[in-house]
Amino acid sequence: MQTLMRGKDLITLQEWSKGEIDTALETSKHLKLLFANGRPHRWLRDKTAFMMFFEQSTRTRNSMEAGITQLGGHAHDLTPDKMQLSHGESAKDTAMVLSRFGHAIAIRNCFYGIGNAYLREVARWASIPIINLQDDLYHPLQALADLMTMQETFGALDGLNVTISWAYATSHAKPLSVPLSQILLFTRYGMNVTVAAPKEFPLLPDLVRTAEANAGENGGTLRFVDDMDTGFEKAHVVIPKNWGGFAFTGDASEMAANLAKYPDWICNERRMALADPHAVYMHALPADRGKEVTDPVIDGPQSIIYDEAENRLHTVKGVMALTMGGRP
Ligand code: CP
Repeated sequence: MQTLMRGKDLITLQEWSKGEIDTALETSKHLKLLFANGRPHRWLRDKTAFMMFFEQSTRTRNSMEAGITQLGGHAHDLTPDKMQLSHGESAKDTAMVLSRFGHAIAIRNCFYGIGNAYLREVARWASIPIINLQDDLYHPLQALADLMTMQETFGALDGLNVTISWAYATSHAKPLSVPLSQILLFTRYGMNVTVAAPKEFPLLPDLVRTAEANAGENGGTLRFVDDMDTGFEKAHVVIPKNWGGFAFTGDASEMAANLAKYPDWICNERRMALADPHAVYMHALPADRGKEVTDPVIDGPQSIIYDEAENRLHTVKGVMALTMGGRP
């Protein structure tokens, strides 16, 4: 474990050591037990976090706001229309000013080619921690909650067969940041990760290479298949979820035409039967029911989506406690 995390940014878990990630997981588990037992844990009394949401959110916004309240602090729920950035105020001025007022700046900006760059620019000028609430490349709080949920479900993670599959959806072209964060993190914990996706929905080659290096250094594997059935075979965990074809084309109409080819990429009971008999179904949510997954699967006995969602609360509390409080 590494414990000196006060003031640290969380933009991607790739920039945290495994010791730091393990400390965050243990802190999250401790906070989960305190919450379960109704024990006060006001570790961030009178601290303020600024949450800047460029997009909608249910889990991320409410887990962070509830979490900091439970830790004794307060979160400002900000959107661009409430801020002068809607009139063009710079990331530098926003970062410098909010740094004088509070103790962390948390940002969701998933616009492809823009989000991560914006977070990096705020982080360059801020003197308080930056917490990534999801950008175009990374969703570290989701990946951390997923890792915690898998630890709770399976114990040891090395040798676990985890399939991250593209799935059909029509609500919107979902960001690449969830599958990218999952392949980057899970390969560091010795898992055998399979990515199943049609050729028009690739992940970003640079980050795939990093995930391959992670696997090589940590005893895991990473493979790619273009068939959902093959991806499901012998999986202990299946995570079927849509992502947009941003890494294939910047043309929205071409992406829509590619999407229309694959309505049969749905997680259903037939496909679940291809996986290990004790396999679990996970999804970061929100899910496109009837498109990404059938109701019998997402509501069925193999689904652990609500445990996964609950852990968003405990993990963001762990991250805030360590980065906003923690050892001086
Ligand atoms: N999984 C997730 O980030 O959910 P929200 O978009 O509701 O925050």
